[in-house]
Amino acid sequence: MPKLAARTGRAKPSAIMVIAETAKQLRAGGKDVVNFSIGVPNFLPGGHVYQAVRDWTARDSGSYGSNRGAPALLDAIVAHFAQSGLPGYTRDNVTVGIGAKQALYNLAEALLDEGDEIVFPSPYWTSYVDIAEILGAKAKILPCPPEQHYKLTPAQLDQALGSDPKVFLFNNPSNPTGMVYTRDEIAALADVLVKHPNTWIIADDIYNRLIFDGIGYHNVVQFKPELRERTFIMDSLSKTYGMPGWRVGFVVGPAAGVKALVTLNSNHITCLPEVVTEAAIAALTGPQDVPTTKREEFSKRRDDVVRALESIPGVHCPRPQGAFYAFPDISVAFGKTHKGKPIANDVDLCKALLEDKFVATVPGSAFGEPRSLRISYTCAPEQLQKGLDRIKQFFAELT
Ligand SMILES: Cc1ncc(COP(=O)(O)O)c(C=O)c1O
Repeated sequence: MPKLAARTGRAKPSAIMVIAETAKQLRAGGKDVVNFSIGVPNFLPGGHVYQAVRDWTARDSGSYGSNRGAPALLDAIVAHFAQSGLPGYTRDNVTVGIGAKQALYNLAEALLDEGDEIVFPSPYWTSYVDIAEILGAKAKILPCPPEQHYKLTPAQLDQALGSDPKVFLFNNPSNPTGMVYTRDEIAALADVLVKHPNTWIIADDIYNRLIFDGIGYHNVVQFKPELRERTFIMDSLSKTYGMPGWRVGFVVGPAAGVKALVTLNSNHITCLPEVVTEAAIAALTGPQDVPTTKREEFSKRRDDVVRALESIPGVHCPRPQGAFYAFPDISVAFGKTHKGKPIANDVDLCKALLEDKFVATVPGSAFGEPRSLRISYTCAPEQLQKGLDRIKQFFAELT
C-alpha cells in the first residue's frame, strides 16, 4: 500500500471524543452514565431559528453560496461584534467557517509555515496542539498552573514574545478552565502585545457571551486599537446559541488576512450551506434570550459544582467565571488506590471514575495540565447532582 502523508501520523484523535465514545458505549450497555465529558451546551436554539429554516425552504436556490459568507450573514456578524463591544468592522473584515474549529484551522494554515512558532498558554483547548502538529508548526506552551488561577501573566507573555513567534493564540473565557480575564488583565496583556509587532494574534473568544459575575467581555483591540491590523477574533454559534451541530464559525480580522481565508475557503469548503446561513442569520439577529438565560443558568450551576468540589478534602477548584467548565486540581488522589486500583495520575483517575462510578470526565493532561480534570456541567440539574455525589463518593473511597 502507498504511504499516507506524514501529517496524518502527527494528527491524533481528540481525547475528549474518545472518552465521550466510551461513555456512550457504557450507556448503550445499560449503565447509568453521567456524562461530564463533552462541551455540548445541551439546549436548542430559539423557535425563530427553526421558523427561518422553514421559511427558507420556499426560497431555496439549491446553489453554491459566497466563499466569504452571504452578505446578510456578514452584516449580522459585523453587528454581533459591534454589540459585543467591537464596533468598526465591515464585511471586508469578516468570513465564515464550518464551526470555529475549521475557521481556526484555516487561519492557522494562512498564518503558519512549517517550522513557525505558535505560542499559547496551558491549560489549552486540545485542538490547538493538534492543529499545530498537523501543520508542522512548533507549539510553545506557557504553563499557567492552578496557583496562578490558570491565567497568563503579562511578564510570561513578554518573555515568550521576545523570540518573535509567528502567532500568539489566546482563549478567553477558557476551555477547559472557565477562567475569564478581567478588564485590567486584558489591558495589561494588550500593553505587552503592542511591544511585539512581528507576532499575529488569534483571540479565540467563542464563549464571550457566557461570562458571569459582571466581569464583562474584553478584547485586547479595545485597549490598543492598533492591534486590529494583526488580530483575528474567532466566534461561533456552537456554545452560546445551542447550535454546535449547525457548524457556524466566524472570524473578524485585518482585511488582507481575511481575504486569504476566503481564498482558502474557496478551495476547502466553498461556502456555508444556504439553510445553515438562514439559521445563523436568525440566531444572530433574532431575540437574544437563549444566550442570556443560559448565562444565568450556568452561573448558578457553576456555584453548585465549585461548592461540591471544594467540599472534597484536598481538592481545589479555582472558581470559573465563564463558559461551562470546571477544572479542579485533583492531584491529592495521586499515589492512592481506589478499590485496589492504583491512581497514579489523572488518566487513571478518570478511568476509575468512569468504570466504577460511571461518571465521564476528561483528564487534564489532554489540556496540558495533568494535575486536573475537566468537568463540563451542561447536563440536566438532576444529572449534575448525581454526578457530583458520585465524585464525592469516589474520593471518600480512596485509600
Ligand atoms: C476554545 C474553543 N475554541 C473553538 C471551539 C470550536 O467550536 P466550534 O467548531 O463548535 O465552533 C471549541 C469547541 O469546543 C472550543 O472549546
